[in-house]
Amino acid sequence: MKKIAVFTSGGDAPGMNACIRAVVRTAIYHNIKVVGINQGYQGMISGDFVEMHSRSVGNIIQRGGTILRSARNEEFKTPEGRQRAADRLKKSNVEGVVAIGGDGTFTGAKIFSEEHDIPFIGVPGTIDNDLFGTDFTIGYDTAINTVVEAVDKIRDTADAHDRLFFIEVMGRDAGFIALRSGIGVGADAILIPETETYIDKLIDKLQKGWERQNRSCIIIVAEGGDSGGAYEVAKKVKARFDHYETKVTVLGHVQRGGSPSAADRLLASRLGMEAVEALLKGRRSEMVGIINKNVAYTSFAKAIKHNHKINQDLVNLAEILSI
Ligand code: F6P
Repeated sequence: MKKIAVFTSGGDAPGMNACIRAVVRTAIYHNIKVVGINQGYQGMISGDFVEMHSRSVGNIIQRGGTILRSARNEEFKTPEGRQRAADRLKKSNVEGVVAIGGDGTFTGAKIFSEEHDIPFIGVPGTIDNDLFGTDFTIGYDTAINTVVEAVDKIRDTADAHDRLFFIEVMGRDAGFIALRSGIGVGADAILIPETETYIDKLIDKLQKGWERQNRSCIIIVAEGGDSGGAYEVAKKVKARFDHYETKVTVLGHVQRGGSPSAADRLLASRLGMEAVEALLKGRRSEMVGIINKNVAYTSFAKAIKHNHKINQDLVNLAEILSI
């Protein structure tokens, strides 16, 4: 293999730059040329390739976002779009590709590799942590820390004013961010898409807290799922339980930005290197992840199947600690 390409796609995640850096430098270490593809599949189709050198990735390990930028692309979903992308890669003599992204990225990579003979290896980069085949995805740890920092601040004002806060966090249709950050902030309740939302149960819990003279309350609500989001839950609760002044905060895209945590930089560096080595070993159509501290390969087909189950022990922990 003489030349590979790297790109980031889908929602950006803190640590993607650290991963690009690892891919570029590992390739150079093995005397392989490397090009960066700008804006994911969009740039693959339009041929927006840029040669990468060791210095192109200097001073980026600490930066959020992605220097290669990202996009969600519709054209790559068509056979014609994928053919155009394959033509561009071949014309550029690219013999292997490292795809950093999530569910949508690997779905595209899976279909592409069934049609074209260019190997792809995936690296899990998404704040949602919703991929099967890795304990953690790049960006998840930073996003959790961002949520914890924000909610700690909200708790100060909630406490000062005796308020009940419903705080909505990201995760698309998965509750990993909500569950882990909810435990981290000592939330009074955590609503996740993986379990049904019972408003009665929630009101019962709030009532007990009120009787114990809880001055303020923090409820973490994951976007997605049957709850309808923080505004909807707040409305339903307020209609039947209005002891507190009720407020809603949607944390939104602040969760996607910022300097990656040390854990994310390390994970990204390790997976970036492993992805290049996987291509060199002849592996293809797989995502490289870490399971129980060891490198693990999972086919794209399995990684995207939403088999990453929520940890029931953590659900129980959250329940017990919020009595
Ligand atoms: O997949 C990452 C993520 O931030 C999700 O948590 C969220 O639902 C979605 O992307 C938001 O996407 P966009 O930035 O396109 O609005």
